[in-house]
Amino acid sequence: MASPSFQAPKGTRDILAPQSTRQRALIDLFADTVERASYGEVSTPIFEDIGVFLRLGESTDVVTKEMYDFEDKDGRHIALRPELTASVVRAYVQHRPALPWKVWYEGPQFRYEKPQAGRFRQFTQVGIEALGTSDPELDVEVIWLANQFYERLGLRQVSLLLNSLGDPTCRPAYLAALEAYFRDHVGDLSEQSVLTLDLNPLRVLDSKRPEDQAIIDGAPLMVDHLTPELAEHFGQVRAGLDQLGVSYHLSPRLVRGLDYYTLTTFEFAADALDSAQNAVGGGGRYDGLAESLGGPPTPGIGFALGVDRILLACDAEGVFDAPTIDPEVFVVDVSGAHVALELTADLRNHGIRTDRAWDNRSMKAQMKVSDRSNAAFAVIIGEDELAADSVTVRDLRGDTGQQLIPRSDLVAYLQNQLG
Ligand code: HAM
Repeated sequence: MASPSFQAPKGTRDILAPQSTRQRALIDLFADTVERASYGEVSTPIFEDIGVFLRLGESTDVVTKEMYDFEDKDGRHIALRPELTASVVRAYVQHRPALPWKVWYEGPQFRYEKPQAGRFRQFTQVGIEALGTSDPELDVEVIWLANQFYERLGLRQVSLLLNSLGDPTCRPAYLAALEAYFRDHVGDLSEQSVLTLDLNPLRVLDSKRPEDQAIIDGAPLMVDHLTPELAEHFGQVRAGLDQLGVSYHLSPRLVRGLDYYTLTTFEFAADALDSAQNAVGGGGRYDGLAESLGGPPTPGIGFALGVDRILLACDAEGVFDAPTIDPEVFVVDVSGAHVALELTADLRNHGIRTDRAWDNRSMKAQMKVSDRSNAAFAVIIGEDELAADSVTVRDLRGDTGQQLIPRSDLVAYLQNQLG
């Protein structure tokens, strides 16, 4: 009977080289960008007690529809993380590091979404979180860092959408006004939005259903209901962005897909991608989250960027190519004396990317593999070279032809040639 064959689960992908190398290069560039600003890496478990994620909001799709949750063998209710902010704040509450606490992360997230281009059930995020101060200049630093990262990747068509969502001092009055407005127009709202209205009127603003748009366009705005202090905070964030030359669009109807946000919220849209999946990152303040996870009141702000989508945006803009992983040198050993073992070890120890042929095949067969490898040089060793304690170095790309080089000079010769 034939063995069954399997495919990666729906909504997941295998990422092979060179795309995996490109993804790692992106993460390295992100780390470099945020470590320059003193963010240290934090690594939290891929699964948590589901209670950690219920803080994302009982009316959000992430909680109601998309959680990968299960009972473990001891009956604990566990979920695969759909995002990292709640996990990072849980870690903060558990360890109480000195404030301000500035961290960055990367890793896979899991959401049971309907897969489509740029939307996966397992996807990778990079992000930062900064806890411990409400200073609006921190908001500016955080947004500037995301902007800086996109710029360093070479992306030119990323827009920043900015809003302030208020806080518990002014949001109840706004929510009451918003709810009253939607109740007045309930007959014109989609069925789904009527249900959402009962749970959280703010989330109705997030509806993408065409029948809701006209009503949403006329809805009262949070920015018009901010207390003077919060309006001042938002003004300082905007002034800081202006000072650093970061351009943004005020987006007063921007609500994010998670409920913990307060004050500054933002999203980055890649204009080169199809508008349905063009959000390449988002974030904001979440000043009540630490308390809701059992910690002391601690303000916080951060963002997460979708690595898979950013790479699609890079493709669309033709930037940030996959780095080369071709070998620099390919060893062809027909000496019958297992010289390739030591030669490859020696070259690799000297930092030269080196590959080799296998199975003791003929010179012609090994040279064919060498050509296919895209290496710059073939290092060939046969019986004659062995007798002369030398190797033949053949230039596979340039026009230096081939030369006999003493074994003892090989590393220096190649380092010189490879620059
Ligand atoms: P989020 O907006 O849910 O925010 O996700 C951030 C980014 O992750 C999105 O802009 C998108 O690029 C990517 N993303 C989300 N879902 C998918 C998916 N199914 N497939 C591919 N990419 C996806 C958060 O996760 C918050 N934790 C951000 C944050 C950090 N807020 C404060 N700190």
